[in-house]
Amino acid sequence: NGNAARAGKTRNFVEKMEESGKNCIIFYGSQTGTAEDYASRLAKEGKSRFGLETMVADLEEYDFDAMDTLPSDKIAFFVMATYGEGEPTDNAVEFYEFINGDDVAFSQGGEDAPLDNFHYVAFGLGNNTYEHYNSMVRDVDRLLTKYGAHRIGNAGEGDDGAGTMEEDFLAWKEPMWAALAAHMGLEEREAVYEPVFGITVREGLTPQSPEVYLGEPNKMHLEGAQKGPFNAHNPYIAPIAESYELFKVKDRNCIHLEIDISGSTLSYTTGDHIAIWPTNAGDEVDRFLRITGLTDKREQVISVKALEPTAKVPFPTPTTYDAIVRYHLEIGAPVSRQFVSTLAAFAPNEEIKTEMTKLGSDKDYFHEKTSSQLLNIARLLEHVGNGETWDKIPFSAFIEGLTKLQPRYYSISSSSHVQPKKISVTAVVESSMVVGRQDPFRGVATNYLLALKQKQNGDPEPSPFGLTYELHGPRNKYDGIHVPVHVRHSNFKLPSDPAKPIIMIGPGTGVAPFRGFIQERAQQAREGINVGRTILFFGCRKSTEDFMYESEFEEYKKALGDKFELVTAFSRESSKKVYVQHRLKERSAEISDLLSQKAFFYVCGDAANMAREVNTVLAQIIAEGRGVSESKAEEIVKNMRAANQYQEDVWS
Ligand code: FAD
Ligand code: 2AM
Repeated sequence: NGNAARAGKTRNFVEKMEESGKNCIIFYGSQTGTAEDYASRLAKEGKSRFGLETMVADLEEYDFDAMDTLPSDKIAFFVMATYGEGEPTDNAVEFYEFINGDDVAFSQGGEDAPLDNFHYVAFGLGNNTYEHYNSMVRDVDRLLTKYGAHRIGNAGEGDDGAGTMEEDFLAWKEPMWAALAAHMGLEEREAVYEPVFGITVREGLTPQSPEVYLGEPNKMHLEGAQKGPFNAHNPYIAPIAESYELFKVKDRNCIHLEIDISGSTLSYTTGDHIAIWPTNAGDEVDRFLRITGLTDKREQVISVKALEPTAKVPFPTPTTYDAIVRYHLEIGAPVSRQFVSTLAAFAPNEEIKTEMTKLGSDKDYFHEKTSSQLLNIARLLEHVGNGETWDKIPFSAFIEGLTKLQPRYYSISSSSHVQPKKISVTAVVESSMVVGRQDPFRGVATNYLLALKQKQNGDPEPSPFGLTYELHGPRNKYDGIHVPVHVRHSNFKLPSDPAKPIIMIGPGTGVAPFRGFIQERAQQAREGINVGRTILFFGCRKSTEDFMYESEFEEYKKALGDKFELVTAFSRESSKKVYVQHRLKERSAEISDLLSQKAFFYVCGDAANMAREVNTVLAQIIAEGRGVSESKAEEIVKNMRAANQYQEDVWS
């Protein structure tokens, strides 16, 4: 069980609300931090605008059998992200299993409508490029209603696929607040900013003092002792055994890493994901501290305390501004329009305040000026404030308004059968030119990995787009060739019978897990095991530029012989785009035949377009091959998914 249980705290949220005098609890089911962010923002707004006594709650930290005891004058919010194939986020699994169970038992027994007193508000975060769009909020809403609970306002749905998440959220919440105010008899008041966190300077301490956290994720790390279990709360600082470049061009990078987990209790199986905990680039940390007027105080030791009993400081303290900004805040992420509104009050002058207010209230203007140029918070403040320092913003506002720095997931590109204690990662470095910006937008984690690779190999000249990193990190424990990681197990798996044929579609970095699959089958073949047909459809721009693992595939071919086939689609070698799905179509008859032999079909990579188009082509192949209608074929594909014969590992 979660942190609450360990600390001896109650897991009964109704009791918890009683104890702390709250009348509104905001639960979140969050994987990448967005749902958690929205929950915090709702809590803050409910308090400042409507005088609600709010608390934010991680679903994982409570039990739900006593939900039928929530008095009718109180309210519960559910901010629920849907993950992958319509699954709950890790922290929502227990709650979902409870409420979706066949034998749900509430504490006061089983009337027809056990939740008749229970009032709730619901918002979902989803992605319409996935089949089970927003299924989590839909399910939770349906199940709560089934047990007699009453929803206030509409169940909102945000769509990351259309890129409208933030606007969907903003559009949903106004009528929701109106409905909630009417229901609870709340009166709206002029919102005044009240900090959630208090900061005190620790005069007696310096960054060298042993109790000061300089980026260590928790106490064990501070004490220099790494102890498992290693998970989303506690990364393992793993040595990088090897790192190298996979592309043959200068202007784009794709990094191959070998991460050594032999010193830990971590384990993985082929097809799992590894989470990489990045560090912000030094240049962006400097920019942030400069624009907020904190440069001179960056090494000052401070304690951060929650001013509210139910709020939690999202990093360990005492610490420094530098460490918080470098290791704990997502300073590279898009800025929300609501956050810009909050910051308007602290603008350096009236003119800038007016501009911030306009940005905060005008969606199109905001998009034109900030989102379209991928401005992060510091760049936005620089831009809007014409370089003036924003030293009136309470630091608490940043802790509340920015997401905590998130680990990024990568599909493990090695086989656990071949190298159980070494994990391969294949990551393409995010660096894209943006109209209206001088320098390219650079992704947080992948540029950090690039810097680690450069450091490890002593690359003479980092790429001209290189960013600087504080790779020595806290007390030299991150010495530049270590990276904090944990493993997330997945359902993306090879068939248990090695003789089953497999068809893999993996353009670009979508090839990652398939390198693991093929490595595994090549090893099995060397061991004399009968391995089934193994076909990989790989696509990239040009055979001479970004054809990764080309020579390795030749090695696998030697082990697997005719069992292995690599089908390539080079998209930029002719005037017409050639994609993996075109190659798939060319092989219709054979694919259809393999599927009737119960071949497993895998797709990995881009969720937005590729996976969907492959799905469509597959349905066409089945329709032709079996002489059925396209809608019947779609249904067959659906059934294949349900039976795990069709598996996806996709991201956007
Ligand atoms: P980020 O800093 O997170 O930026 C990524 C994107 O977010 C940008 O392109 C941009 O569109 C948007 N964005 C960021 N900041 C802003 C801003 N200020 N304003 C507007 N938009 C912004 N990747 C691989 O390379 N290989 C893999 O094997 C792989 N496997 C994955 C498996 C899973 C299950 C998942 C979920 C993802 C996987 N990914 C993989 C993707 C990976 O997790 C990262 O998302 C990717 O590497 C980019 O991370 P980053 O920190 O470099 O970029
Ligand atoms: P492109 O960039 O030339 O359009 C890896 O990124 C490969 O996937 C590239 O060759 C890229 O081609 C290709 N790709 C882009 N969009 C795709 C889509 N919708 N379906 C399949 N492949 C795609």
